[in-house]
Amino acid sequence: MRRQFSVNQPDGFEFTPENLEWVRGQIGKYPEGRQASAVIPVLMRAQEQEGWLSRPAVENVADLLGMAHIRAYEVATFYYMFHLEPTGSVAHIQVCGTTTCMICGCEDLIEVCRSRIAPSPFQLSPDGRFSWEEVECLGACCNAPMVQIGKDYYEDLDAGTFGTILDELAAGRVPAPGSRQGRFSSEPKSGPTTLLGFRDPLIAANAAVAKAVELGDTLGD
Ligand code: FES
Repeated sequence: MRRQFSVNQPDGFEFTPENLEWVRGQIGKYPEGRQASAVIPVLMRAQEQEGWLSRPAVENVADLLGMAHIRAYEVATFYYMFHLEPTGSVAHIQVCGTTTCMICGCEDLIEVCRSRIAPSPFQLSPDGRFSWEEVECLGACCNAPMVQIGKDYYEDLDAGTFGTILDELAAGRVPAPGSRQGRFSSEPKSGPTTLLGFRDPLIAANAAVAKAVELGDTLGD
């Protein structure tokens, strides 16, 4: 799958004053000469500000960290969490298409993306609010098929449950992440076979889901 900068690039990029202050705090965590260690969180903050990573944004980050531009390009183009083209203003859907998700039905999810968002990856929906792409394994194979939206995972999906998530997003709501088959985490679908009684029945969701719901910012902005 293509990992290249968009052919459409803005003239420049600047962090907002608030974000620049945050960036300087990140840089300050590292000893002199090691500022490049902050590259991933600083790139992510640039993406959260703009919705995607433009070439000027990556170069701005490299300059702030004292890195050669090519070193920051390498990081930005390697990781799928960095979007190299403009994305939907509400949500960018990353559908895992690797083996386990493929066996468990990710093609159905991709078909929903094609029919409801746009025919091609990184093509904006007609209203500009949604976009999608297929990505490699996101490490949630036990809960396949799954998608990542912003910072969170939506798991154990089928076309119907995935469509409901899109409906919620389109209506301005943030659906709770996690399993759509009632699983707490990655225990067998038929229920746990070990550590029986380990889970407190009063706890409705695992820590990651509970935190996302508490923050209400699962889209990552
Ligand atoms: S194959 Fe989809 S999360 Fe691993």
